[in-house]
Amino acid sequence: MKISVKVPATAANIGPGFDCLGLALPIYNTITIEETVLPGTGVQINVISEDAAVDELSIEHLALDENSLVYKAVELLYNSIGQSPSELKITIHSNIPIASGLGSSASVIVGGLLAANELLGKPADEAALLSIATEVEGHPDNITPAIVGGLVISSQEDDCTIVYRKLNWPEEWSITVCIPDYELSTDISRSVLPKEVPMKDAVFNAKRMAMFVDAINTKDAELMKLALQDRLHQPYRMKLVPGLEKIMENLRHEENVLGCVLSGAGPSILIISQKNNLDKIHSIVKDTWADLNVKAVIKTLQIEQNGAQVVNNED
Ligand code: HSE
Repeated sequence: MKISVKVPATAANIGPGFDCLGLALPIYNTITIEETVLPGTGVQINVISEDAAVDELSIEHLALDENSLVYKAVELLYNSIGQSPSELKITIHSNIPIASGLGSSASVIVGGLLAANELLGKPADEAALLSIATEVEGHPDNITPAIVGGLVISSQEDDCTIVYRKLNWPEEWSITVCIPDYELSTDISRSVLPKEVPMKDAVFNAKRMAMFVDAINTKDAELMKLALQDRLHQPYRMKLVPGLEKIMENLRHEENVLGCVLSGAGPSILIISQKNNLDKIHSIVKDTWADLNVKAVIKTLQIEQNGAQVVNNED
């Protein structure tokens, strides 16, 4: 039997929502799991990419053995029903840039898990899939939109269950995704964060999260401009993302721009704006990075409202 699952890219944090806000984007990885017939072949993992930018170096971020995230997710699911995975071929068709802050790790965890769940006759429901995937990833902000789609607030509770709610992104606001040609691993990007933050910074972000939810619900652009600020992670990560500070500064006076934030742990950047003057936003980002010899792919995208989907199922 062979199962393929298509999983969207995701952008986490979105300014104030460190480790709890995320949204799905229409860029996809497809993860296929096939039961192989030859005994003793174990679990084989392959990555296929048509994107020249996904070179061998970036593929190194995806361990292709039993230490890989996809394998860990599949193994946890098998273990939850008292079994161990054996004789499986896992193929990752990779289109989501790796180590770019667009949820490539979450996508392989979710894709592997959902495909294995289909193979096993669906022993896990959505709540169990969310918990297992978050256990492997460490936080739910990419995992939840990868599974359920849309814009989502999520929380991993003390008993490891995931509580989430979807929010409706206002149609009149655009999301421009800017992907530089350098990589930044999440481990490095998390290693620069402090263990504790000043109370005033925690309060600053609590206020911004409350503003974010109200701005989304009431489509209040002025409130959103205040909401898209952060003091918990971006200030510490600024030095790891050459160009971010300058891009933020160069966009500050553009009236249609509501905010410029790191996508997940970076280095990709999201620009939230009204739908006019998008070409100007694209050229400000491109030119600012070009001054630093950084090439970038810049795309204005709609939110993907669907989460991971099984795309074929061959006996
Ligand atoms: N919330 C996570 C972080 C997203 O910022 O580190 C990346 O996995």
